[in-house]
Amino acid sequence: MTDNAVELGPLPTCWRRRHLLGLEGLTAEEITAILDKAEIFKGALVSGKRRVPLLTGVTSCNLFFENSTRTRTSFSLAARRLGADTIDFSAATSSLSKGETVIDTAKNIEAMGADVMVVRHRTPGTPHLLAQNLNCCVINAGDGPHEHPTQGLLDILTIRQRRGSLSGLTVALVGDIAHSRTARSNIWGLKALGANVIVCGPSTLVSPRWAELGVEYTYSLDEILPRVDVLNLLRIQFERQATRPFPSVREYAHLYAMDRGRLARAKSDILILAPGPINRGVEVTPDVADGPHSAILEQVTNGVAVRMAVLWLVASVSPN
Ligand code: NCD
Repeated sequence: MTDNAVELGPLPTCWRRRHLLGLEGLTAEEITAILDKAEIFKGALVSGKRRVPLLTGVTSCNLFFENSTRTRTSFSLAARRLGADTIDFSAATSSLSKGETVIDTAKNIEAMGADVMVVRHRTPGTPHLLAQNLNCCVINAGDGPHEHPTQGLLDILTIRQRRGSLSGLTVALVGDIAHSRTARSNIWGLKALGANVIVCGPSTLVSPRWAELGVEYTYSLDEILPRVDVLNLLRIQFERQATRPFPSVREYAHLYAMDRGRLARAKSDILILAPGPINRGVEVTPDVADGPHSAILEQVTNGVAVRMAVLWLVASVSPN
């Protein structure tokens, strides 16, 4: 093994996708293949190998029409760690304001030589539409409230690293279930790997219809807390809501914020996750967010490794 080499192994036989549009429909084998490659990349990164040039000559474009801190930065970093070239597209300064469509915008960037398009857009289905209209690989980095597959994967990787396996664990997703793409991707991925999922939040944000996805639903965090292994605390997506779903943020925090008191009533080894950005004092109090049960920054570190794995996997499948 040379200095930069990583024992990544071949492309898994189960992996044939040139796009990652969601975790819905992925098999346990496919999800495990992504997580296994991500673990190898993480091992390389933590041992100080900052360049793993497996995608030299590949160009990856971040096509973000919505704000982002973690997802955008870590996709850029992941591509660069793999030796790929990166293009960062900013909707605010683009010709969209001159009336150009999203498909035309993407086709023009593809014509400049992009091989992979990482897409975030407020409209569900935008990455799917681009996958149908472009030749390059498409990765969904969040399509409105629909899916955010790499967030689901990095959450699941963090749980797997801490607990060894997902099978039989009880994972509660707490907060704005109705508008959360993280919730949907977590549900598909966690269920595929054998975890039990509970969705929890105010009745205006948790519909009984979630049971149709094979998950339990509840409006009371305090009721489920003693039997939960992992809590994933989701932000209230005010930007996607036409009306306020509860009387005040203070009331929400009173019922759903993970604080010291709730921690004392939870399992002694409960794991606390949050996709970020966190609103301190709303979903979680600072002492819990920064405390020993929290893996919030570990999730961010895992995000780079997961995105390296996904970029490598989709870019390694030849077209047709
Ligand atoms: C999430 C997103 O944008 O969907 N954040 C992220 O990608 N890290 C969740 C959120 O915005 O609350």
